[in-house]
Amino acid sequence: MALQLGDEAPNFDAETTEGKINFHSWLGDSWGVLFSHPKDFTPVCTTELGYTAKLKPEFDKRGVKVIGLSVDPVSDHNEWVKDIEETQGQKVNFPMIGDGDKKVAELYGMIHPKSLDSLTVRSVFIIGPDKKIKLTITYPASTGRNFDEILRVIDSLQLTAKYQVSTPVNWKDGDDVVISPAIPDEEAKTKFPKGFKTLKPYLRLTPQPNK
Ligand code: BEZ
Repeated sequence: MALQLGDEAPNFDAETTEGKINFHSWLGDSWGVLFSHPKDFTPVCTTELGYTAKLKPEFDKRGVKVIGLSVDPVSDHNEWVKDIEETQGQKVNFPMIGDGDKKVAELYGMIHPKSLDSLTVRSVFIIGPDKKIKLTITYPASTGRNFDEILRVIDSLQLTAKYQVSTPVNWKDGDDVVISPAIPDEEAKTKFPKGFKTLKPYLRLTPQPNK
């Protein structure tokens, strides 16, 4: 069965562009983003990897480690990163797993043969410090992902983890957030000292607590 939200992210040992890793040890207490791309030396993947590398300071600020994967060998990754730097103006600054035997791709269900033969599709797994899967995204090979959206989701997940709030439609950093219906009004008054608006008993909005 496919991995689901709340499942433990499966552990593995792998070769990467930054040496051998054990995934859980590499994650340590950090949040993690594990993402696959279909193939090295392909156009959409080249733009995705360059842009993700540009976002490294944003991932660092949020305590998130990023790691890429394809079923190409590390030796190909090491050649391809030169093209990424040349065309995208950014050095790849996170490890990329060489998964030639498809061990990790199969563990995470990243190969969808009816969509793309024996290559990985564009999968994303966001993993919490508890090693549980907090989000999965699957895109086809033809559509590059929006990594700004991945950062937005991380902001939402981290707010939920810290403050028992959720984020409404199209929320972005700085907008009001939703107080969990599980928190009674009396408790909400102390927990959210900036106050809150009650639109319905189940729909209460409060300014983002960490702003
Ligand atoms: C691409 O990155 O453009 C791509 C990779 C594999 C299949 C199709 C497109």
